[in-house]
This record gives sequence, C-alpha cells and structure tokens, in this order.
Amino acid sequence: MKVDVLLGLQWGDEGKGKVVDVLTPRYDMIARFQGGPNAGHTLEFNNHKHILHNIPSGIFRDDKLNIITNGVVLDPIVFKREIDALEAMGIDLTKNLWISKKAHLIIPTHRILDAASEAAKGKSKIGSTLKGIGPTYMDKTGRNGLRVGDLELDFIKKYEALKKKHKQLLTIYDYEYNLDEEKLFFEGIEVIKKFNRVDAEYEVNRYLEEDKSILAEGAQGTLLDIDFGSYPFVTSSNTICAGACTGMGVAPSAIGEVYGIFKAYCTRVGSGPFPSELHGEDGEHLRELGKEFGSTTGRPRRCGWLDLVALKYSLMLNGVTQLIMTKTDVLDTFETIKIATAYSINGELTDRFPYDMEADIKPIYTEMSGWKTDLTSVRTKDLFPKELNDYIRFLEKELKVPVKYVSVGPDREQIIEM
Ligand code: GDP
Ligand code: IMO
Ligand code: MG
Repeated sequence: MKVDVLLGLQWGDEGKGKVVDVLTPRYDMIARFQGGPNAGHTLEFNNHKHILHNIPSGIFRDDKLNIITNGVVLDPIVFKREIDALEAMGIDLTKNLWISKKAHLIIPTHRILDAASEAAKGKSKIGSTLKGIGPTYMDKTGRNGLRVGDLELDFIKKYEALKKKHKQLLTIYDYEYNLDEEKLFFEGIEVIKKFNRVDAEYEVNRYLEEDKSILAEGAQGTLLDIDFGSYPFVTSSNTICAGACTGMGVAPSAIGEVYGIFKAYCTRVGSGPFPSELHGEDGEHLRELGKEFGSTTGRPRRCGWLDLVALKYSLMLNGVTQLIMTKTDVLDTFETIKIATAYSINGELTDRFPYDMEADIKPIYTEMSGWKTDLTSVRTKDLFPKELNDYIRFLEKELKVPVKYVSVGPDREQIIEM
C-alpha cells in the first residue's frame, strides 16, 4: 500500500490532530515526519481534551503503531511530560510507539539559543514557539547534531561537545541563562530509552511491502515551510508533502492520497505577513468564536478570512487529492463571509503568492451569504444549509479538488464525510 499524507495548507493549527485521530482506524501506522514540540495537536473525545506535541495523533486508538520518524526533532523533556500524562490516563505506549534512531534531539542549550536569537532580533523576531526548533535543525544541517541512535554510542561525549559549542555561541548574545533543565533532560533521556528505537525507514518500508497502510501526519502548515513559506517568518523544516518523503525515508512514488486540511477561515500565530488578516474588533470576534489561542504557547492567534491565493499555492506545492475543511461551525453566525480570491499589489492584480510578502498586499474579496445555522450537531451532508453547500461548491470550483470532509466542532464525532 501507499503512504497517505495529511498536512496543513495554511499557517498551522488547521485541526490536523483531530482529523488524524478520526482517520486512524483506517490505518496500521501513524507517522510524524517533521517538526517537533512547536506543534500542538488537539484531540477531543468523550469530553476529554488532549494536546500532543511530539507524539503522533494515532495513540488513542488501540493496536496502531505510532512512529516518530527521522525528520522530527525530539525534546526529551517534553516527551517525558507527554508520556507521564498518558500514563496517568492508563495508556502505556512502550509497545506501540517507536522512535527513529535518526531523529535529532533538542537539548536544553538549543532552547536557550532559540530564546537568545529571538531576543536579539528585537522587533523583527519570528515569534518562534521557543522550543529550540531552529537551532536543532541548524545543528542537523550543520552536521553537529545529536541523534536518538547516539544513546547507544558515545552519548555523553557527544552531548558535552554540543553543549560546549552552544556555550561558545551564546557568548555572542547578551543573554542570561542557566542550565537548570539539564536534570530534566537526562530524566527524559531515560524515558526515551524505554522505547523501541528503530531504523524507521526500514520499518516504514517493511509496512508498505507487507501491504499495510500508513498515514503521515504533518505538523505546522505549508505557509510555514522553510523553502516555500513566508520566509523568514517560517519554521525550520519542510512542512510540504515532499517533507514526508525525506522525513520518513519513502520514495515519492510511495505517496498515495494527500489530504490537505484548512480552516474555513484563516489564522496565524507569531509574526509575519498575513494578507487577509482582520484587525481590531472583527479579528477579535473570530478569535473568540474559534477559541483561537495557541495549543503550544497559549498566545492569541491572529484571525482573518479564507485566502484562496494562498490555498491554491499550497495545493500546487503538495499535490493535494482531497480537501478537509475544519472549524466550519465557527462561521455559523456570520451574515456575510468573505473569501480572498486575488491580491492587489501596488495597483496590480495577481493570483500568485508573492516573493515579497512584506509588500502592501490588498486582498480582493468575494462575498458570500452566511448559513446562520448551528452546524455543531449536524452529522450528515443532507442537513447542510444551502449557503454552506454554495460555499463548498465555490471552493471546489476554484480549487479543483473535492472537499471530502467537513468538520463542525472539536470532538471526534463532529465531522461529516462528504
Ligand atoms: P493542529 O495543530 O492542526 O492539530 O490544530 P490545533 O489543535 O493547534 O488547533 C485546532 C483547534 O481547533 C483545537 O482546539 C481543536 O480542538 C479545534 N478544532 C478542530 N476542529 C474543529 C472544528 O471543526 N470546529 C471547532 N470549533 N474547533 C475545532
Ligand atoms: P501545529 O503543528 C502554528 C510558528 C510559530 C512561529 C514560526 C516559527 O500545531 O500546526 P518555531 O517554533 O518553529 O521556531 O516557530 O512558526 N509555528 C506554528 N504555528 N502551528 C504550529 O504547529 C506551529 N509551529 C510553529 O508561531 O511563527
Ligand atoms: Mg496546533
């Protein structure tokens, strides 16, 4: 079988965790392929809410293998915290959660470097989650990184050498820090040692050969991709579909369905351009309705209208075969809904996501009538109001990809397959 990929088409937080949990029963393996604890993936079921950072969102379904593959950067401190919380719920993951030996480790000084670098940027800061993501990927590409597989080799020697390098780097910043978290780091390392540490690329490809199904769970979103996102206001990994190949060690020909997930509107957390952003009261209204506060940092998310220029760009980069629209219910009370269909930049119209995202971009909007219906208890598409059908039809016509799922609330049950 093939690897199906589920990834975000906007600036993250599209509801990936929820939908991966919904789709998991159809798969044998769920894999995270990039990013790290900058991700916060929320799952809700039986009146219980759970946020995952390092761990794939398939863990609440029995007998599925979850795997953290080589493209991920893993923080032992966050990992231990997540495992402790799951153990408290009676969930023992030591059998069905595997970790790639090639996944890089986030060490305490990576996080300090992240904070020092952001502080030094002042006003032009990225708005990083400060989880050490950038410095860890820098060490990976700079060939200095510490990997999970090193636990069986000269781990302490390598750790100390990396820490020493970081301390030297920190001297260029006027930044006060301490190494109090080292103790927690080594406690986390002991927890990682309880898990099966594997050559994940072999395990993933073995599953494919055995005709088993795999769902790859993206983190962040396409517009935060290191190559194609709104650089430099991006994360440090490839969040696009190609990232699933390098992040797991599978051939491009092994990719099957590509589920592209988007909110019925748009949000962004942290700094950076956001052409369809709503400022002032309108933005706050959407934030309140959508409970738009970061799952990892608790920061208020910036909110705006759906942006088809950005969405079309994301579809092109990912080869999306099926669309999933989430948070549809958040628009339930709107009289009118706007959709950006083009940008005007210095008086020129374009339907392209521009290189210079800092330019004065004015979105051109199409307006549609809202459905003014409570969707949260709707479970079949026959009960969709006409205006919602119109909205979906308009998107499908513009995007040329079918909307296959519509999510109408945070709970596992609140989703309609079209
Ligand atoms: P992820 O990072 O893509 O997994 O998304 P997050 O978990 O960071 O943010 C999505 C938020 O929206 C979470 O609080 C979810 O519980 C919630 N959510 C997901 N789908 C829906 C939906 O269809 N409607 C509403 N109202 N909330 C949703
Ligand atoms: P999930 O998987 C939303 C944003 C940060 C910041 C930029 C760089 O939950 O969708 P980093 O910590 O990577 O150095 O931050 O990227 N960011 C996210 N925004 N959802 C995420 O993950 C994000 N992960 C990083 O806010 O602007
Ligand atoms: Mg999130």
